[in-house]
Amino acid sequence: MKKTQTVKKETVKKQEPEKKEPKEQDLFTTNKLKIFMVSSEAVPWAKTGGLADMVSALSISLAKLGHDVRIVIPRYYNIDRDKLELLPDAMGIPMGGGIEEWSAIYSTDMPGSDKDNPVKVYFIDHEIFFGRDGIYGSPTETDFIDNFRRFTFFCKASFQLCRKLEWFPDVLHAHDWPAAIAPVYLRFAERVPNGPKEFKKTASILTIHNLGYQGIYHKDNYDYAGLGWDVFYNAGFEDWSMLNMLKAGLYSTDKLNTVSPNYAEETKTQEHGFRLDGVLRYRSGDYCGILNGIDTDVWSPEKDTYIPKNYSVNNMEGKAKAKEALQKEFGLPVNPDVPIIGIVTRLTEQKGVGDLFGPTYGSAWSFCRDMDLQFVLLGSGEKWCENEIAGLSSRLSNFKAKIGYSEKLSHLIEAGSDFFLMPSRYEPCGLNQMYSLVYGTLPIVRRTGGLADTVEQYNQETGEGTGFIFDYLSPGAIYDTVGWAVWAWYNKREHIKKMQKRGMTMDFSWELSANKYIELYQETLRTKL
Ligand code: ADP
Ligand code: GLC
Repeated sequence: MKKTQTVKKETVKKQEPEKKEPKEQDLFTTNKLKIFMVSSEAVPWAKTGGLADMVSALSISLAKLGHDVRIVIPRYYNIDRDKLELLPDAMGIPMGGGIEEWSAIYSTDMPGSDKDNPVKVYFIDHEIFFGRDGIYGSPTETDFIDNFRRFTFFCKASFQLCRKLEWFPDVLHAHDWPAAIAPVYLRFAERVPNGPKEFKKTASILTIHNLGYQGIYHKDNYDYAGLGWDVFYNAGFEDWSMLNMLKAGLYSTDKLNTVSPNYAEETKTQEHGFRLDGVLRYRSGDYCGILNGIDTDVWSPEKDTYIPKNYSVNNMEGKAKAKEALQKEFGLPVNPDVPIIGIVTRLTEQKGVGDLFGPTYGSAWSFCRDMDLQFVLLGSGEKWCENEIAGLSSRLSNFKAKIGYSEKLSHLIEAGSDFFLMPSRYEPCGLNQMYSLVYGTLPIVRRTGGLADTVEQYNQETGEGTGFIFDYLSPGAIYDTVGWAVWAWYNKREHIKKMQKRGMTMDFSWELSANKYIELYQETLRTKL
């Protein structure tokens, strides 16, 4: 980067051009940016997975770097209005076919962000869309039938919010399919010739957190967006006579990225592209991968408030205490010598649960039966899987599971386990393997997505590496790799210790990734203007 600048200066000298004022775009390198995160999830208010962690943690880090960061999410019914500030004047939002009345906006500051420069969080309130139990669906209706309307309304309302605040972002940063239509509105309704002026300079980024979810609905819904049918085709909504929200976003956004460099490459292939690999290859010049960080205030054995005793790479006593507490919590015999394999996960196909718990071939049954280990699981999700897990718990004395969601237990599992298993079918980034590494809990992972970017293969000759990796996803491969880890535990304990140390000193803080996002924003603004 510096080299290029020097070369440019010399060229300028030779040609002796007249002195120019710095171009507007150059100012972005020093300026504080106005960044607008549009997302369906953000901790601590709404979370189904890592997206919620990422949006809040990235925003906090960007604000710490001095930028003006604001997040907008829907106000789901479980978000207590009494704890928020109501912005005056409920407003109607014009949507195709009429006005959506009675929406309101609430706001608050993001906990954990700097008092001097807090991340402002806004909540779009509209009972008819968000006043129900569930973010995307419920146990009886896994994908709400009106999701196109719910999230299209949300995106449109986000622009109205900016107008109300008279705050117009440099960068609109949308996340996943529920926010993907925001860049479409920006490009086809705001930044159009003779159109409104307020967002003319706003650039857009769309981050893919999970290509497996795209927001595909019947075309009949489209009129509600109020964008016109020419935009339907120009923006790339068309998807085999359905409409695809993510696809339209990927075509329409200025730049796009995903949450690890390896997943960015994988998604351009047919195997991992979920039918959008063609779009991603088409946009590959504007597409990159930036590895997520982790929130090191919450996920660090030195600061963790959920574990019995804090610990660090120089004093591992607290890890032994966490192991003991974990064994007690799950009703396992307390024994420091037996290895514990932990897992915290959504029980969905993405996470490899078919090969782990499948009724006929699942590997958990066989490795728990054959090996001297303890296994603890925390998770919830698909019913067949929850049932299989209940069956295994009743048949195996060393297999213990809790079905449900618990922040506290997830911390105890990370700290108290010796190994952490992630046999993901695909994994855009994955947070738990990074938590595991910094807690001295060695990951056993499939070489895919962000797992491949963050875990280094164990070398049993030298003790190098940070975890145990397999390639082809099958019950046999999981069985063998768990077996390898258990073998190393019993026969190469000095290697295990070395690997723990290596993992615990790795830097996954958000600062690094936040700076990469700033570079991406600046590059997008430069190419945009
Ligand atoms: P994904 O978003 O695909 O589920 P990630 O690894 O990015 O995967 O993030 C998952 C996050 O959700 C992690 O912070 C993990 O600890 C948490 N999590 C998943 N299931 C549970 C659960 N049952 N209880 C507590 N935390 C959970
Ligand atoms: C998605 C992915 C996960 C990633 C998270 C945060 O939920 O499945 O791999 O870590 O988003 O970006």
